[in-house]
Amino acid sequence: MADEVVKVINLKKVYKQKLKKIIKAVDGISFSIKRGEILGFLGPNGAGKSTTIKIMIGLIRATEGKVFINGVEVPAPESRKKIGFLPEHPSFIDTLKGKELLIFSALIHKIDKAKIKEKVCSLLALFDLEDAAERELRKYSKGMLQKIGFASAIIHEPDLLILDEPMSGLDPIARYQFKKIFKELKERGKTIFFSSHIIPDVEDLCDRVVIINKGKIIQILNKEDMKDLEEVFIKVVQHR
Ligand SMILES: Nc1ncnc2c1ncn2[C@@H]1O[C@H](COP(=O)(O)OP(=O)(O)OP(=O)(O)O)[C@@H](O)[C@H]1O
Ligand SMILES: [Mg+2]
Repeated sequence: MADEVVKVINLKKVYKQKLKKIIKAVDGISFSIKRGEILGFLGPNGAGKSTTIKIMIGLIRATEGKVFINGVEVPAPESRKKIGFLPEHPSFIDTLKGKELLIFSALIHKIDKAKIKEKVCSLLALFDLEDAAERELRKYSKGMLQKIGFASAIIHEPDLLILDEPMSGLDPIARYQFKKIFKELKERGKTIFFSSHIIPDVEDLCDRVVIINKGKIIQILNKEDMKDLEEVFIKVVQHR
């Protein structure tokens, strides 16, 4: 369907361990992401969120099932073209300076050379990183790495953002800034999918939320069903 940017169909991921032990990290999940929505991905530690996300962006292969992004099946390179991705633990070439990382990302995304300087400066300002622009990334704090990672993920103005716990490690002001940017991106028609453990953020931002536990989807809630989300979340997760 045209209004579905992402379709995840019966996705499974089995990690093989020693002595024939297996871990069913993702166990047959299906959901879609509608164009222009902010979709939250909630689940306890080890539920399978990061595994799902890594499959969606083509970092690891599914054991079974399919993911389509804009109608293109992952992991075809074309499926990643308009995606901005922020991993759970952003790690970069840490001898790069903050500003250099953004220039590097801009070059990778083939942004017009004449526009790179302006773009990089405006992102550094947006994320309050101007004072740290010339600092090496190995000297960045956790929250600063989240910020530069997010800036790098949106430098090419992707239509779809896939973010794994984007707000973790942020101070309250940075969290507020991130949420404001999310809302602005949504207003500009962008689609956002993000995992989180911060229930008030999910309630505030999301049009819908997918709740996953032990590799299975246990609920998909619309905005109007998100009242008392924390209570609902704890109840549905504990009853499984
Ligand atoms: N490379 C791997 N090899 C083996 N098992 C793995 C691997 N990656 C993840 N797992 C296991 O798969 C399950 C799901 O992990 P995943 O990282 O997807 O969870 P998560 O929902 O992102 O958790 P969190 O909220 O803690 O980030 C866990 O049991 C985890 O130990
Ligand atoms: Mg995770």
